[in-house]
Amino acid sequence: MSILAGRVALVTGAAGGIGSETVLALCEAGARVMLTDLREEPLDEVRAALEAKGHEVAAKTADITDESSVRAVVQDTVSRFGRIDILDNNAGATGFTDRDRNVADMDVDVWEQVTAINARGPMLMSKHVIPVMVEGGGGSIINISSGQSLTGDLTNLAYASGKGALNAMTRHMATAYGPSGVRVNAIAPGLIVRPGEEDRLPKPIADLFIANCLVPRLGRPRDIADTVVFLASDLSGYITGQVISVDGGILAHLATVAPMRELFAQGTSYRSEAGTTTDKT
Ligand SMILES: NC(=O)c1ccc[n+]([C@@H]2O[C@H](COP(=O)([O-])OP(=O)(O)OC[C@H]3O[C@@H](n4cnc5c(N)ncnc54)[C@H](O)[C@@H]3O)[C@@H](O)[C@H]2O)c1
Repeated sequence: MSILAGRVALVTGAAGGIGSETVLALCEAGARVMLTDLREEPLDEVRAALEAKGHEVAAKTADITDESSVRAVVQDTVSRFGRIDILDNNAGATGFTDRDRNVADMDVDVWEQVTAINARGPMLMSKHVIPVMVEGGGGSIINISSGQSLTGDLTNLAYASGKGALNAMTRHMATAYGPSGVRVNAIAPGLIVRPGEEDRLPKPIADLFIANCLVPRLGRPRDIADTVVFLASDLSGYITGQVISVDGGILAHLATVAPMRELFAQGTSYRSEAGTTTDKT
């Protein structure tokens, strides 16, 4: 189904796990796509693989935290394809977890780098793309946020704070540019693992996530890519300003559910031995 036929998409972080699957899904839906990423070699591999399948794509390296770099990639996209209908702000600060933990230990340089990638980058991309979209009659921006922006966790303070800013930006940009035909939504993925790379995650951690997901498996890049295609298309034409969790339902229930399932399996019930019903929470 070519639901994006005639549309032009610009995708950041296109060399990464979710980004490379997203550009494929956008192409399969009929879009022409400009791929961009900081890393030249893997970006070129993704571009070449798409071209080998007959898709119309181009690639250019850019640092989304740098305004001149952002301006250049937006200008190149317009020169090459004539318009921009879809912006997928997918690039994120995924490589800092070891240095991005608690506030008392926070290295300010790490904070600056991580929040620049997760918040300043999407802001700059949107700043330069929105005027092109408005001139072309509208468009759809999809910001890739994170479940960590919606709840507390033991790691990734700066990462989560940057994604929280991205959620706020999503609602503000949707508010300002809705009347001009630009919809803006965010996706908050849960734990996403590339097929074949499940072993990279320690098994106890994978098992913990699966036990807490209502769809009992880890997320895959295609889960996010398909949602991007939906939000980019007219099928989502009345959805804007939303942060949509694509996480197997991990945030949709009480933290007690997984251990409670185990207690039930062991024969524990809500009724105490004295015969009174216990509080479910
Ligand atoms: N994988 C997950 O479990 C998960 C969960 C929640 C959210 N996310 C988000 O999904 C998005 C994609 O993540 P992924 O899992 O594919 O990670 P990934 O590391 O495979 O891809 C991220 C890409 O962003 C690029 N990038 C980083 N800094 C950049 C910069 N300054 N300029 C341009 N490109 C830059 C990297 O080179 C990389 O290719 C990210 O925004 C991430 O925060 C991922």
